[in-house]
This record gives sequence, C-alpha cells and structure tokens, in this order.
Amino acid sequence: EQDPRISNISSAIRVIPDFPKPGIIFQDITTLLLDTKAFRDTIDLFVERYRGKDISVVAGIEARGFIFGPPIALAIGAKFVPMRKPNKLPGEVLSEEYSLEYGKDTMEMHVDAVKAGERALIIDDLVATGGTLSAAIRLLERVGVHVVECACVIELPELKGRERLGEKPLFVLVSST
Ligand code: PRP
Repeated sequence: EQDPRISNISSAIRVIPDFPKPGIIFQDITTLLLDTKAFRDTIDLFVERYRGKDISVVAGIEARGFIFGPPIALAIGAKFVPMRKPNKLPGEVLSEEYSLEYGKDTMEMHVDAVKAGERALIIDDLVATGGTLSAAIRLLERVGVHVVECACVIELPELKGRERLGEKPLFVLVSST
C-alpha cells in the first residue's frame, strides 16, 4: 500500500512538455520545493528509510541531488559528498565517463571525501536511463565504498534505468509514465 504522502508529492511535481527540446517531457521539481509540506514529506520519506542503516556518506548528484541530498545527510548523521560535472572540484578528483542519449559526460568526486569501507547512499532527483547513477556507483566502488542503495524522487520506468543498475537497489517515490 502506498504511503499517503506520495500522491501529494507527485502532484507537486510540474510536468512541462517539449523542454529542453521537442519530445522531452520535463519533470520539474522546483514546484515541489515551493510546497513546504510536499518538500518536507519528500525528505522525511527518505530519512525514515535510511536512518539507522549505518550510512556515513550521502552522495548527491549535480545539480538536483544537491537539493535533496544535504537535508537527508544532516537528518541521518552522514556527510554530504557532491558528485560534480568536470573541472568544478578544486581538490584531487576521480573521474568517470558515462554515455548520454547523444554523446557522453564525465562525473567527478574528491578522492579524500570518502574512505574504503564506508557505506553510501546516492541521491538524485530523477532516474531516466540510469547512466548517471551508474557512473556515481562506479566512482564510489572504485575507492572501496559500499553503495547501499540509490534513491530518486522520480523514475521514468520506460527508460529502464533500473535494469542498467543491475543488482544495485533503486528506491523511488514516484513513477512517471
Ligand atoms: C538529469 C537528472 C539526472 C539525470 C538522469 O540531469 O537530474 O541527473 O538527468 O538521467 P539518466 O538516468 O538518463 O542518466 P540533467 O542531465 O538534466 O543535468 P542537470 O541536473 O545538471 O540539469
């Protein structure tokens, strides 16, 4: 049975057709941030799931993982680690390339932000093809961090991102068709 808070969260996400280009239906979480109850419920649902799970790292993916990740990290007593676009982080980084629908991109993480053996949760606003989350998993696993789960507000199930993650668990609040 679905948590009663979910339908409110789902309604607070604005759907904008043909953005950023024709044919793309954009899931706009900025309207969720305007709704204080829906935003708080979103954070609470993640905190309720991950509190007490011995997670010491919340890794947030640029850009919208930087909105949802930090309040979750504070609430569960974990550090927040930004997973950034290339050439943004000033310290020593590890880089991971990943494929996009057209072309590729790179994600970077500070090497000294995490230690082998730590347990991490990865947060983003949305999973589409799963390419972005896969790159974040690889970055953390390369330094011996155990990725407990990936969590997103929205999943686009038609793009089969869940399959791309293989055995790695994915938790989402809203599925959008
Ligand atoms: C969106 C979204 C995820 C990613 C998911 O980011 O916020 O990070 O795409 O797609 P995937 O599952 O197919 O990899 P976007 O590309 O819009 O970048 P931005 O957050 O910097 O705007």
